[in-house]
Amino acid sequence: MRKNIVAGNWKMNLNFEEGVSLFSEIVNMVKDEVIGKQEVIVCSPFIHLNTISKLADTANNVSIGAQNIHQAESGAYTGEISASQAKSVGAEYVILGHSERRAYFGETDAILAEKVDAALKNSLFPIFCIGETKDERESGRFFDVIKSQLEKGVFHLDAEHFGKLILAYEPVWAIGTGLTASPEQAQEVHAFIRQVLADKYGADVAENTTILYGGSCNPSNAATLFSQKDIDGGLIGGASLKSRDFLEIVKTFNS
Ligand code: PGA
Repeated sequence: MRKNIVAGNWKMNLNFEEGVSLFSEIVNMVKDEVIGKQEVIVCSPFIHLNTISKLADTANNVSIGAQNIHQAESGAYTGEISASQAKSVGAEYVILGHSERRAYFGETDAILAEKVDAALKNSLFPIFCIGETKDERESGRFFDVIKSQLEKGVFHLDAEHFGKLILAYEPVWAIGTGLTASPEQAQEVHAFIRQVLADKYGADVAENTTILYGGSCNPSNAATLFSQKDIDGGLIGGASLKSRDFLEIVKTFNS
């Protein structure tokens, strides 16, 4: 079912206390100020998950996610965390395919396809990120890039499993740069993604898939971005580290 979601991605920020305190603030503000039609997901570093999962507020649609998992179930992978381990400390979602993981940690489409399977096998819902670099945008290849990321990362799933996925379109040139895709640019890609999904899985699946926008989303541009027909919410980096800014973005769906 297609939903309105605002997901925060804290990346490698906040020590334990800072993260717990930010999450508590978010939960309290959501309780007081948010109507609850929208879902709020906070994807924290692993160190916070066990504690903040106990503060999560399912009655008000606030839940938590991890930012990565390893594709193997367990074993000799020093420093890694498996899907079942993330699940065991309360994660319900996991960001996969983030451009920072693709660029800095060598995560290929093939590895990501395995991570998607590992997540689903352990009842973690993937927030699967796709998006083009600046060069790919400027050379006009971005539609091909996005289609290929979908085909190689998630199109091995049958329709039932695909239905558990949230997609996030994150143009790499807009992440953490202060540059945002214009509402028209973002809508164009979101509509394209929905068409690619319709061709593969049929119109129903395409219509019911939640597709978030990410990339320098903030309180002043969220409303116009989220009012686009095929944009269902956002994946928020920098602005998710300030409770007031994050809440303002979440509240975009109040009206
Ligand atoms: P940003 O990050 O909002 O800081 O651009 C978005 C993301 O990387 O998910």
